[in-house]
Amino acid sequence: MSSEKHTQYDLLLQQAQALIADEPDVIANMANLSALLYNSLPDLNWAGFYIMRAGELVLGPFQGQVACVRIPVGKGVCGTAVASGEVQLVADVHQFAGHIACDAASNSEIVIPVRYGNEIVAVLDIDSPKLARFDDVDQQYLVALVKLFEQRLAGPL
Ligand code: SME
Repeated sequence: MSSEKHTQYDLLLQQAQALIADEPDVIANMANLSALLYNSLPDLNWAGFYIMRAGELVLGPFQGQVACVRIPVGKGVCGTAVASGEVQLVADVHQFAGHIACDAASNSEIVIPVRYGNEIVAVLDIDSPKLARFDDVDQQYLVALVKLFEQRLAGPL
């Protein structure tokens, strides 16, 4: 694994922390984190959040093409992340049963649950037109970024 990738992610985490450290508003923080990710990471076509609302995921702040608004728990990659409580790292979304194609350009995807306490309150969803765009290093750093965001939460979303 290139040390350059680690260096870029270390910088990204510093920028993320600087953006949200003094701001308690969760929508503002989700919006700025989406923009930071979308404009910092290469080969993305979508980056943003879905928020748990009354038992289903609803589109939150994002960067990219217009996207499907509501995703039931258990459906698609995002709903599977909520149902399983696990990060979903999908090398080829066309091989993922039930994948929801919001943008036909997407070929790979990573979805990370966001928790307040033990409860999943949102997911971070990042899509790429490149197959197998995300690996374990991406997962490790993106989970760390989500942890920074979780530390700013003062309650359920
Ligand atoms: N592909 C996702 C839906 C959201 S869009 O990618 C923005 C899914 O299968 O849950």
